Amino acid sequence: MFNYITVTLLVLVLHTCFCDKKPNFVLILTDDQDIVLNGMEPLKNVQRLIGNEGTTFNNSYTTSPLCCPSRASILTGLYIHNHHTYNNSVDGGCYGSSWKQLETSTFNYMMNTAGYSTFYAGKYLNTYATQSDDGPENVPPGWTEWHALVGNSVYYDYTLSNNGVPTNYSDLYLTDVII
Ligand SMILES: *[C@@H]1O[C@H](CO)[C@@H](O)[C@H](O)[C@H]1NC(C)=O
Ligand SMILES: *[C@@H]1O[C@H](CO)[C@@H](O)[C@H](O)[C@H]1NC(C)=O
Ligand SMILES: *[C@@H]1O[C@H](CO)[C@@H](O)[C@H](O)[C@H]1NC(C)=O
Repeated sequence: MFNYITVTLLVLVLHTCFCDKKPNFVLILTDDQDIVLNGMEPLKNVQRLIGNEGTTFNNSYTTSPLCCPSRASILTGLYIHNHHTYNNSVDGGCYGSSWKQLETSTFNYMMNTAGYSTFYAGKYLNTYATQSDDGPENVPPGWTEWHALVGNSVYYDYTLSNNGVPTNYSDLYLTDVII
C-alpha cells in the first residue's frame, strides 16, 4: 500500500514479552507531504488507509524544515541548539561527533534499555556511514535490528547496513525493501 510514497524511516519498537500490557509502537516517517504544494494528492491509498482513518495534527510544529536536524530532534526530543545537528552535512553536526555522543539519549536507546526490542529501517542521519573511518559496520547503540541506508536518499543503487553488514541493492526500490 506504500507504493507511491517515499518512506524514509520505519521504526518499530516491540516489547519482548507479549504477556503483559506494554504497547508496541510503529513510527513511519515520510517525505514531502506538503499541504501547500498538495503533496498528499497523489497518495490515494495512504489517505484512504491511514489519513482518513487517523488524526490530523493541525497545530504541529517542526524544529527545522531541514531533514537531518529534524530527524535528530525526533530521535532525541531535543531542539537544534541542544542536539547541535544544524544542517545535513557532517560539519554541521549531521552524524558528526556531537551526534554520536547523543546516541545513548535517543528514545530507542531508552526503550531498548527498558526491555523493548527496537527495529530501524530506512534513512538515518543523512551522512550515516559515509566517512572512510566510520562505515556501515557501525550500528548505533539501542537498535536490536538495524537496516539503515548508507548516506542520503537514494531509491535504486544503494547500500544498506544490515545489522552492520553492508549490502548493495541495484534494482530493488528502497521503500519496497524496507517495508
Ligand atoms: C484539521 O485539518 C483538517 C485537514 O485540513 C481539516 O479537515 C480539519 O477540519 C481540521 N480540524 C480542525 C479541528 O481544525
Ligand atoms: C553546515 O553547518 C556548518 C556549521 O555551522 C557550516 O560550517 C557549513 O557551512 C554548513 N553547511 C551547509 C551546506 O550549509
Ligand atoms: C557496494 O557499493 C559500493 C558503492 O558503490 C562499492 O564501493 C562497493 O564495492 C560495493 N560492494 C559490493 C560487495 O559490491
